[in-house]
Amino acid sequence: MSAAYASRFEKVFLCIYLKGPKMSYAAVGRYMQKSEEFVRKWRYNKTKSVDDLSERDIRRLTTKDNKAIIKINLKMISDGVPSVRVLLLKGFGTEGFKFYTNYDSRKGRELAENPHVALTFYWESLRRSVRIEGIANKTSAEDSDHYFQCRPYENQIGSAASKQSSVIASRQTLIIKESELLAKFSKNQVKRPACWGGYFVVPHSIEFWQGQSDRLHDRIRFRRPKSNEKIDNVLVHKGEDGWVYERLSP
Ligand SMILES: Cc1cc2nc3c(=O)[nH]c(=O)nc-3n(C[C@H](O)[C@H](O)[C@H](O)COP(=O)(O)O)c2cc1C
Repeated sequence: MSAAYASRFEKVFLCIYLKGPKMSYAAVGRYMQKSEEFVRKWRYNKTKSVDDLSERDIRRLTTKDNKAIIKINLKMISDGVPSVRVLLLKGFGTEGFKFYTNYDSRKGRELAENPHVALTFYWESLRRSVRIEGIANKTSAEDSDHYFQCRPYENQIGSAASKQSSVIASRQTLIIKESELLAKFSKNQVKRPACWGGYFVVPHSIEFWQGQSDRLHDRIRFRRPKSNEKIDNVLVHKGEDGWVYERLSP
C-alpha cells in the first residue's frame, strides 16, 4: 500500500467482542513476561507466567462474576470516516487474532480497501484493557470451512440467509429466506457461503493497560521497532522475537 493511499484511508480500527475460553495466551504471554511490575499485577492468581494459563484459568478470567468482562470494539476508517462494530474474537495464536464475518459486508469491503485494523478489549471488573494494531488478512478457505462446520445449524442457516449490511424491506424478508434454506438443507448439509469466512489480524503493536486506584495507571506497549531504532534499555527495551516494549504515561 502506498503512503498516499495509507494517509488517505488512515487507520481502520477494529474492535472485537472476545467471548469464551477457547484461546491461547502463548503468543502474547511470552512478551508480557518481560514487562516488570505491570506484568506481575496482570498475572492471574498463582500463575507464574501468562503462558501457563490453562483453559480453566482463561474461562475464569473471561467469565469472572458471571459477567462478560472482555469487550472489543471494532472501528474502521474508510475515506477518513470512522465506523465501529463489535465482533467475536474466535481465537488467537501465532497466526494472529481471528474473527469471522461476511466478506461482502461493509466491513469486508472496507478491509479490502484498507487492511489496517485496531482491536480493543476491556475487562471491566479487572480494570484491564488491551489494544492491538495490525493488518487483517483473510484466513484460508479450509480454516473458514472448518469453523463454519463447527457452528450450530441455525447459525449456519442464519449466515447463509443474510446478505450482511444490505438494506432490506422488513424482517419478513429474512424469515422467508431462512425458511427456504431450512427446507433446502438439513443438518450437516449447509455449505459455507463463499462470501463468508475468517480474518486474522497480524499485530504490530500490543498495549496492556492496568487501571490503578491512584489513577497512575500502567501502560506497557509492545511493538515492532522502527528500522535502525536504538534500543537504549532506559525507555525502550528489547523483547523476544524482534519485539520491543516501553512504558507509556497514562
Ligand atoms: C456481541 C456481538 C458479537 C458479534 N459478533 C459478530 C461476529 O463474530 N461476526 C460478525 O460478522 N458480526 C458480529 N456481530 C455483528 C456486528 O457487530 C455487525 O453488526 C455486523 O458484522 C455488520 O457489520 P457491518 O455492516 O459494518 O459490516 C456481533 C455483534 C455483537 C453485539
